[in-house]
Amino acid sequence: MRNRISHGMSTHSSPQQGKIALVTGANKGIGLETARQLGRLGITVVVGARDHAKAEAAAATLKREGIDAVPLNLDVTSTADIQAAAAFLESHYGRLDILVNNAGINAENTFTGNNSQTVPRRSCARRSIRISSAWSS
Ligand SMILES: NC(=O)c1ccc[n+]([C@@H]2O[C@H](COP(=O)([O-])OP(=O)(O)OC[C@H]3O[C@@H](n4cnc5c(N)ncnc54)[C@H](OP(=O)(O)O)[C@@H]3O)[C@@H](O)[C@H]2O)c1
Repeated sequence: MRNRISHGMSTHSSPQQGKIALVTGANKGIGLETARQLGRLGITVVVGARDHAKAEAAAATLKREGIDAVPLNLDVTSTADIQAAAAFLESHYGRLDILVNNAGINAENTFTGNNSQTVPRRSCARRSIRISSAWSS
């Protein structure tokens, strides 16, 4: 059977196999689980977290589960981090197939702090475009 799942990992090649995904805020919660589910499809998952140690720990957890996970220090509010992320993806893979901008997509207009509840949606959308265009141009 195609894409049969055994112990959480695909036992047959998936159409997603070999794709590259970046999940922001992937060290816990929905982001970590999204990274896990993508990884189980055979997708290489770049695990973005604003804290480097958390990115390493989450990627290590996923690797122990047999997932091709790569840690990446990425605060989605930091232009420098975004540019570094684009450069990393370009140099290592030359592309990005899937972007899950999980971190900070809740608020619409306010920006009163630095957590997932307060990063404006429009800011994240703009930054996603910048990430994508950084290696397509
Ligand atoms: N859970 C829900 O029911 C629900 C419903 C609707 C929408 N959402 C949205 O879905 C997203 C994930 O929810 P969740 O429940 O998984 O939240 P969570 O457990 O609080 O996790 C949020 C993640 O985003 C990271 N993050 C926050 N600000 C960041 C930044 N500036 N740069 C990079 N990473 C950042 C956090 O990193 P740290 O560990 O460093 O803080 C954490 O990894 C959030 O945007 C949330 O608003 C959730």
